[in-house]
Amino acid sequence: MSILVCGGAGYIGSHMVAELLENGEDVVVLDNFQKGHIDALLGGKLYVGDIRDRKILDKVFKENKIEAVIDFAADSLVGESVDNPLKYFENNVGGTVSLLQAMRDYGTKYIVFSSTAATYGEPENTPILESDKTFPTNPYGESKLTVEKILKWSDKAYGIKYTALRYFNAAGAHINGKIGEDHNPETHLIPLIFQAALKKREKIYIFGDDYKTPDGTCIRDYVHVSDLASAHLLALKRLRSGNESAIYNLGNGKGFSVKEVVEVTRKVTGLNIEAEIAERRAGDPAILIASSEKAIEELNWHPKFNSLETIIETAWKWQNSHRDGYGR
Ligand code: UFG
Repeated sequence: MSILVCGGAGYIGSHMVAELLENGEDVVVLDNFQKGHIDALLGGKLYVGDIRDRKILDKVFKENKIEAVIDFAADSLVGESVDNPLKYFENNVGGTVSLLQAMRDYGTKYIVFSSTAATYGEPENTPILESDKTFPTNPYGESKLTVEKILKWSDKAYGIKYTALRYFNAAGAHINGKIGEDHNPETHLIPLIFQAALKKREKIYIFGDDYKTPDGTCIRDYVHVSDLASAHLLALKRLRSGNESAIYNLGNGKGFSVKEVVEVTRKVTGLNIEAEIAERRAGDPAILIASSEKAIEELNWHPKFNSLETIIETAWKWQNSHRDGYGR
């Protein structure tokens, strides 16, 4: 039996494929390479195609015995989702519906779904619990929350058991130094700070220093991408043992401000990094910190790379040896 990883050539997906291979699982990857990188794939049987294309799904499900699906295939830029919401509903919601139809038709009973802290919107509590209200403030978060609801109804109707994992800020790179984070365009804080360190951009702009936080800059909960991958594997094992569907937050439960992240990056790289305060970015909540108690208790999840310094060190190791990212 194989595990199908949709979006397996992307940032988090490629770390998932590595985790599955390291644990002796049989891996099948489906990726349309809109954002994925062939060099990010460390193994697995590859199919190139889109989850919205039923023909490629039929081929994958007919040629392999798919025990479970881990779904990362989605668009994930908050700003873009505000400008082009239909792209997000078509790809993120439509894509997962298409995948669930194939799972129903071929009798695949487990799915681990990549969800997000953006399902909460402006949080009502810190740290955020899974039971807190979900009121997304952008179409990206709305599209992921919509899929969570579709998963609930698919469980009731077709017995497809799911685990939705709401990640906070994914960061870092595999300790093997072979895979890391390479987005185009890059919008995430840590890779952008590296670009400033490597003089690929003049400076890093800090979006707002007038938030109600100790240093005025936004606070986020950074979680290592390999720890996210290990949580997916634990979620899969929990489903295999016959447990019910569930939703979990994944974060370290510790928040760092943008200024702190810049400072730690200066320390890790030993390079001069110029920073300048800029306007706030629309839609940024001041503080997003996860309570991951539920994942720690029920999944027995113990993040290994839980210090910001280690997270940035692993990211830097990859970035410094892949200054132009993948394959260029
Ligand atoms: N930031 C800057 N300057 C930059 C880039 C980012 O100051 O050049 C700040 C942002 O304002 C934010 C923090 O750094 O306060 C982190 O920003 P990222 O863009 O790295 O990450 P986000 O918190 O915006 O987004 C992440 C995921 C999204 C997910 C969201 C959930 O990348 O997919 O968390 O809230 F939707």
